[in-house]
Amino acid sequence: MPDTPKRDLKEYVDVGHSELENHLRTQNAQFQSALEEAEAGRKLTDFLWLNIFGFAYHYLKSRFGPRHPYQYYPTSNDTGVYKMKVANETTQIALLSDWASDTPESDRVGAVVAFHKPDYSIHLGDIYFVGAPSEVHDNFISPKASWPRGKWGSLALAGNHEMYSNGAAFYKMLLPTMGVREANAVSDGLKLEMNPSDGLKPSDGLATSNNPLIGSPSDASVIREQKAGFFCLENDYWRVIGLDTGYTSVERPFVEILSPPDCHLRKEQVNWLKNQLHLDNPDDRRGIIFLSHHPPFSDFRKSFPRPARQIRQLFGEFLRPVLWMWGHEHRLVGYRERKVGGLPIHGRCIGHGGMPVEIDAPRVDTDSILFYDQRRRKNIRRIGVGYNGFAWLKFEQENLSIEYRDVEDKVVTGESWRINLQSGLIEKIG
Ligand SMILES: [Fe+2]
Repeated sequence: MPDTPKRDLKEYVDVGHSELENHLRTQNAQFQSALEEAEAGRKLTDFLWLNIFGFAYHYLKSRFGPRHPYQYYPTSNDTGVYKMKVANETTQIALLSDWASDTPESDRVGAVVAFHKPDYSIHLGDIYFVGAPSEVHDNFISPKASWPRGKWGSLALAGNHEMYSNGAAFYKMLLPTMGVREANAVSDGLKLEMNPSDGLKPSDGLATSNNPLIGSPSDASVIREQKAGFFCLENDYWRVIGLDTGYTSVERPFVEILSPPDCHLRKEQVNWLKNQLHLDNPDDRRGIIFLSHHPPFSDFRKSFPRPARQIRQLFGEFLRPVLWMWGHEHRLVGYRERKVGGLPIHGRCIGHGGMPVEIDAPRVDTDSILFYDQRRRKNIRRIGVGYNGFAWLKFEQENLSIEYRDVEDKVVTGESWRINLQSGLIEKIG
């Protein structure tokens, strides 16, 4: 698939949230790409096919066609629970959200993350404008794509924009390039060994794909492709649980009027949380960090509390505070602890990955905000935009430090946490 031209941040500055508008913008980007290649005499034909017929086809298919079937764990040989690679008692994870805009800014953020060589990198969703195959290709798969792959893997959540094209490219193109590799593990029977001539090969005859995008191991490794829009990456002290709120963030026309999408966790995901992760087990006192695309609460825009209420039920008697990081809003904000449906949440919005960063004041006058990066980087169309960036999580046994770095690799702010494995309580220590 050829690359389409790099986009300018200007194209995104006033982008709305309707599917119609986002499809039009994707169609226009594809038209601009075709225009550069087309001969003059073909331009009118190309315009009609790409912009009018192409748009109508894709938009109607998206709005009235079926969503990509929901994929979930467990599968026959995968639970979606990955063991975190620990080296020198340390694991470093980069979190980027709303990053996939294919702009010089997203390239720069990707390059800064790559410079720090994360063990894992995770995208918290939204591939602009509609998660089309060309957009997945340009941001993640093309040799020129700037998605920074972790040494031990990359994982992805879906946002609402992936579902504007029914999630097909997210599930069929992106997820097969995502996953983790687990060194020297043979427990689930998918051991792969390095063969200098062929790359990765299954050593025990079990089928799995040869996927150089996940990484090139230098030792015996298990490659585990991501097979669902949710996952758990864990060690002996912490669990990083990615939640899928994207799939249920869009609905069919007319249905969405009667029953507005609420980003709830589908029953397959709830069963996975219950039966694979056992969140109510009082003997498992590891610290929990939830990741999702949509915010369980917000002082700025619409929030989606239903997943938090569902998780509260799953904790049962063993309720404890959690860290929760999300995107969707294109800003960097940290909140003081807040309860949603009874679940105590330390919330962090990190949706400033690759879109024009919003720096407007919160909707309500509130003292619940712990930090908010409102620095103005420049004006685009007379609108002030802030600094893109990402979160950098460093796990060292009981300790977790989080740095919020910007596009210039400056640490905007940081914080430190510790999990008490006796009580199961997380404590902010810095
Ligand atoms: Fe979003």
